[in-house]
Amino acid sequence: MAKQDRQKNPAADEARGVQGSGKTVPSEETSPYVSLRPKSLKEYIGQTRVVETLAIAIEAALKRKEPPDHILFHAPPGLGKTTLAHIIAEEMGVSMTVTSGPALDKGGDLLGILTHLEEGDILFIDEMHRLPRVVEEFLYPAMEDFAVDFIFDKGVHARSHRYRLEHFVLVGATTRAGLLSAPLRERFGIFRTLDFYSEEELVRIAKRSAALLNITIDEDGAYEIARRSRGTPRIVNRLLKRVRDFAQVRGAGIANRETAREALALEGVDEKGLTVLDRKFLKAIIQFYKGGPVGIEAIAATLYEESDTLVDVVEPYLLKIGFLTRTSSGRKVAEEGYRHFGLSMQQGLFKSTDL
Ligand code: ADE
Repeated sequence: MAKQDRQKNPAADEARGVQGSGKTVPSEETSPYVSLRPKSLKEYIGQTRVVETLAIAIEAALKRKEPPDHILFHAPPGLGKTTLAHIIAEEMGVSMTVTSGPALDKGGDLLGILTHLEEGDILFIDEMHRLPRVVEEFLYPAMEDFAVDFIFDKGVHARSHRYRLEHFVLVGATTRAGLLSAPLRERFGIFRTLDFYSEEELVRIAKRSAALLNITIDEDGAYEIARRSRGTPRIVNRLLKRVRDFAQVRGAGIANRETAREALALEGVDEKGLTVLDRKFLKAIIQFYKGGPVGIEAIAATLYEESDTLVDVVEPYLLKIGFLTRTSSGRKVAEEGYRHFGLSMQQGLFKSTDL
């Protein structure tokens, strides 16, 4: 059933609303907040090859009047995995139910969600790499045969029941494709990694978001935000809002170079866009481990941080800009990383008060 038809039936929508650990996404028309998410592939800035792949898959599926293959997105946080899933649902004219790997702790949770999906509907599972193994195995026949076998009771009373499912589309997202088992990865017909965005793309995103939020921004202001956003649209949008606050209170209400610089300095974001945690991470390796190589768990313990946060959030951008290298024996700060702090690989350590 097309989404447009469903929206005429609020009772049915409500019934589909919250099922176990999954949530059918509400219409943004009823939300008081301005959404900065692009709603179509045409509006989407950047990731041009991924966008083209999706445009072709969607158009072909619409022509054949059948759902597209299952789709997996791999990227660090904030690069657009969830946004693209919403766009696919929008362009296919179907509903999307959203859940995540850690939220699905039993096969039964997933069964409840799967049996409520209608033909062509999208099931979006974030953090696919954190799906419990039993749930993952439950998903295989669902993805491949659109059927699941559910076992009731235990031992001699055990009974198995096969549920037929509608032909749904699984859109998965992960920050760690390497942690997905090969059988799971192979069940996705489309698997794409999203890259960090270029400065030029981030400038366009900053201007687009500023227009949606009614913020006056000039070219220099957009550039200043873009180049300090770690290649990440979500950070552009967050910093833009901080610059807006600053400009309203301390400036003339305009997001220009000065207000952007001052607001972002207040946020602890430096010239390269590195955050307090990025700098602590690099400094800890230099200070306590002579620049590395050092294992991630040792760094996490030194910083009292979760190693997952460091691997998912901090490392990808530092690797991308060449401040960090990863070797088989651990992480090492590269010459560029030292230079960011006015040091060279041969010289000085920080005072502990710098950390
Ligand atoms: N807002 C956040 N990400 C975006 C993107 N890729 N294109 C346009 N607007 C965005």
